[in-house]
Amino acid sequence: MIKRIGILTSGGDAPGMNACIRSVVRAAYKKNIYVTGIEYGFKGLLNSNFINLSPESVGNMLHKGGTILKTNRCEEFKQKKYRKIAYNNLIKENIDGLIVLGGDGSFKGASILSKEFKIPVIGIPSTIDNDIYGSDYSIGFNTAVQTIMDSVDKIRDTASSHETIFFIEVMGRNSGHLAIHAGNVTGAELIMIPEIKIKNLDFLVNKIRKINIKKKSIIIIYAEGCNLGPIDKITEYVQKRMKNSNVRFSILGHIQRGGSPCEKDRINSSLLGYYSVNEIIKKGKSKMIGIINGKVTFLDLEKSIKTKKEINKNLFKITEIINNY
Ligand code: F6P
Repeated sequence: MIKRIGILTSGGDAPGMNACIRSVVRAAYKKNIYVTGIEYGFKGLLNSNFINLSPESVGNMLHKGGTILKTNRCEEFKQKKYRKIAYNNLIKENIDGLIVLGGDGSFKGASILSKEFKIPVIGIPSTIDNDIYGSDYSIGFNTAVQTIMDSVDKIRDTASSHETIFFIEVMGRNSGHLAIHAGNVTGAELIMIPEIKIKNLDFLVNKIRKINIKKKSIIIIYAEGCNLGPIDKITEYVQKRMKNSNVRFSILGHIQRGGSPCEKDRINSSLLGYYSVNEIIKKGKSKMIGIINGKVTFLDLEKSIKTKKEINKNLFKITEIINNY
């Protein structure tokens, strides 16, 4: 029987992580299960950075961005000798199951630990990148899209006044999920993503020129993992080739990871947290939990890691059509 579960947040933080921790703790409390919070992700597991989480201690944080448990990326965890230390610390703390909030890197670490030491793990997709296979949404994604939308709307005002061609860099590491959604909701005339390569800079210039015939101010959402290189160099090149235009860039950066979680992220966090507790007590194979077509689903953790989540090509195509004419 599971008496105590551990919970940690790992990788880049995502708005809604706190809401999810709260949900796990309170769902567990109802089932008489104790929850240990592990601070600083897998690194904290190596250093026994344990804290007790009670239903009261997770109050007043549903609406707060970031993660009260802190987070980081832990290189040591890739080595078995460190995972053994982590496992011993879990045993010392009487933790019989682990809930991990993070992205694919965090899921990899959790999955290996689970296989090596037969400890049940549930991975809750929590990354603004939304690149985890097995869930339509990961915690934090919707808030990040909202943040980008608010920022780009403001840039749009000045871009339109000055008739500027604006490159706006968004996060997403090597995936374009965030950029596609952002491009749709901001009416971006062009979306550049790693999954759809643009031949070269001249090809890009031609594309922009075509749009420029009808529109003087242009918003280009540029996913950070794109193949054409750093945004400042691209901007410089386009400016050189389009001398009569005003070409600028803006990197939104870590603002995209902060802020109070939006309604959808709060709801997803509550559901994913609650059902993770329900699942972990079965002590079955390690899984990732997700939301597909509005329903909570489970998938083998290893399968999720090994499968690439495809971008929404249809949304990309439709966006290109309706944001231009
Ligand atoms: O995975 C989340 C993410 O925000 C990516 O979109 C981005 O590439 C990366 O983390 C940035 O990480 P860091 O804050 O460690 O530079």
